[in-house]
Amino acid sequence: MCGIVGYIGNKHKTINVLMDGLQRLEYRGYDSSGIAVIENGHSKIVKSRGKLRNLKKKLSRKTLSGYVGIGHTRWATHGKATEKNAHPHVSGSVSVVHNGIIENYQELKKELIKKGYVFYSDTDTEVIAHLIEDYYKNGLSFENAVRSAFKSIEGSYAVAVISDKAPDRIIAIRKFSPLIIAIGEKENYLASDISAILSYSRKVIFLDDGDVAILEKNGYRITDLEGKEVKRDVSVINWDPVSIEKGGYRHYMLKEIHEQSRAVLDTIRGRFSEEMGEVYFEGLNYKSFNNIKRIVALGCGTSFHACLIGKYMIEKISGIPVEVDLSSEFRYRGPVIDSKTLAIAVSQSGETADTSEALLEARRKGAKTLAITNVERSKIARESDMVIYTRAGPEIGVASTKAFTTQLIVLYLFSIYLGKNRKIITEKKAKDLIGEVLYTPQLLEKALKLEDEIKELGRNLYNYSNFLFLGRGPNYPIALEGALKLKEISYIHAEGHAAGEMKHGPIALVDENMPVVLIAPRNGVTYNKLLGNLQEIRARRGKIIFLTSGEVSEELEKHVDKTIRIPECSSIISPLIAVIPLQLLAYYIAMYKGTDIDQPRNLAKVVTVE
Ligand code: AGP
Repeated sequence: MCGIVGYIGNKHKTINVLMDGLQRLEYRGYDSSGIAVIENGHSKIVKSRGKLRNLKKKLSRKTLSGYVGIGHTRWATHGKATEKNAHPHVSGSVSVVHNGIIENYQELKKELIKKGYVFYSDTDTEVIAHLIEDYYKNGLSFENAVRSAFKSIEGSYAVAVISDKAPDRIIAIRKFSPLIIAIGEKENYLASDISAILSYSRKVIFLDDGDVAILEKNGYRITDLEGKEVKRDVSVINWDPVSIEKGGYRHYMLKEIHEQSRAVLDTIRGRFSEEMGEVYFEGLNYKSFNNIKRIVALGCGTSFHACLIGKYMIEKISGIPVEVDLSSEFRYRGPVIDSKTLAIAVSQSGETADTSEALLEARRKGAKTLAITNVERSKIARESDMVIYTRAGPEIGVASTKAFTTQLIVLYLFSIYLGKNRKIITEKKAKDLIGEVLYTPQLLEKALKLEDEIKELGRNLYNYSNFLFLGRGPNYPIALEGALKLKEISYIHAEGHAAGEMKHGPIALVDENMPVVLIAPRNGVTYNKLLGNLQEIRARRGKIIFLTSGEVSEELEKHVDKTIRIPECSSIISPLIAVIPLQLLAYYIAMYKGTDIDQPRNLAKVVTVE
């Protein structure tokens, strides 16, 4: 949602650390931004609407020194994307930046207005600043004023606070929204996620819900809301800072599309023995799954599509029935869950509020919980009984790519793990399936070689206003994913459908202005059905992009406008391969349209509000 960064120390120019961190956090939200730095005992606030470059321009006309400061880049929840709603929000000596939602801000605002506080913004965050100031000026210490304020605040928050009456510290507090602190030599940092500070420190503490961190130049303390010290482990992050740069690519998204072969390889590493036909996951013991009779898979957006494909994999290989739910729908449908249910939450960020809440609902009803996530110690990881990490490395582009393919390979490995341990598949079958997993990185590399062809196709298609994506079986969710990729970065209307559904309505949309991407790898049991769909579309003059594998007859070539050939593979691995040209197609259409590919309008990389 929003990005927060803070620095205290004098080894680096505060403003440089803040702006560098906000630059790396801009993918979390970018409709306005701001900083507060304490200089000679006074807080200096600079804010601007729009992208971070607008704030940079303002700051280039100022010289801000001082060795304590906080910064924020915003994805609007309460209050339009304007300069007055940009953070930090100020009350008296107190400046606050916040990521999350204050659910009871209206009643708190009424109380504060009665006390004479004047509100300048339409945000919920401003309530935090006045509340802390109110406690502070009535005699509490700075940190107790923060603790007291948050005892009456309900909702989700990651907050950093400074006061020019206490210029030797930053106070940070979190509940439901991510916040880390990083430790330096005579300096300390805080941020919404690791990428913002990795180039300064690798020693990181992941704050837990209810933690209050007091950062000073020479050290830090962490307490609970009552002021009682709590101990938190220091993790040493081994990510390579370069891995969060663009690596010579024009956009993070393109870099991450090309990282998928390596990301899948990293994700499977050390998790199987081909000669034994065994799969294992660190920290998992099969005994935990002995009494599992059914699985519910939960996710949003691309992660939801991964769940849909996971259903095919798990049911086919392990025989366990799988229900898939959109996280945002799950807990409102009164799901029937018991102790024999395994709830799997799939989430790249591990911070998606809808998925976190759905998982907690399943847990409340007695389910065992397993997270498949890309971020260590993320909220969903910490709320689950068990975790399997994808090892895609930081995914910065808002459009999820390498996280998706690594989610799929984890789901595939997990299917083999369940199937083998339940004796649904033989050792030989397990070895064959593991062999396919091992071959997947090479198939991904081959699929990436389609890039120039897809770029040319993107140039021919970027002016169309509507697209249809069609698939069957495990490639029906790939039709959904291809449509999502295109719409979220190019803003072109795109729909994904099960190809068999065409005759029940969507075919009414087809005419010469409708490009239709038909996902039809040869190995699928429904290949011939898809050829039937092809003829239906052709009969209505739709433009056909035929995504298939293996040989295509000359006769068939005549009926399509473009054939994309992916490498041959099994039907259940084909979604991982078929998605590559669709990611590239969305990327190049968006590139020709000139949209902001890494930070598409209205979107954020992490949606920590429901
Ligand atoms: C995918 O390209 C989108 N950015 C979005 O749908 C995303 O998949 C969704 O918000 C879920 O995020 P998560 O995987 O971090 O939970």
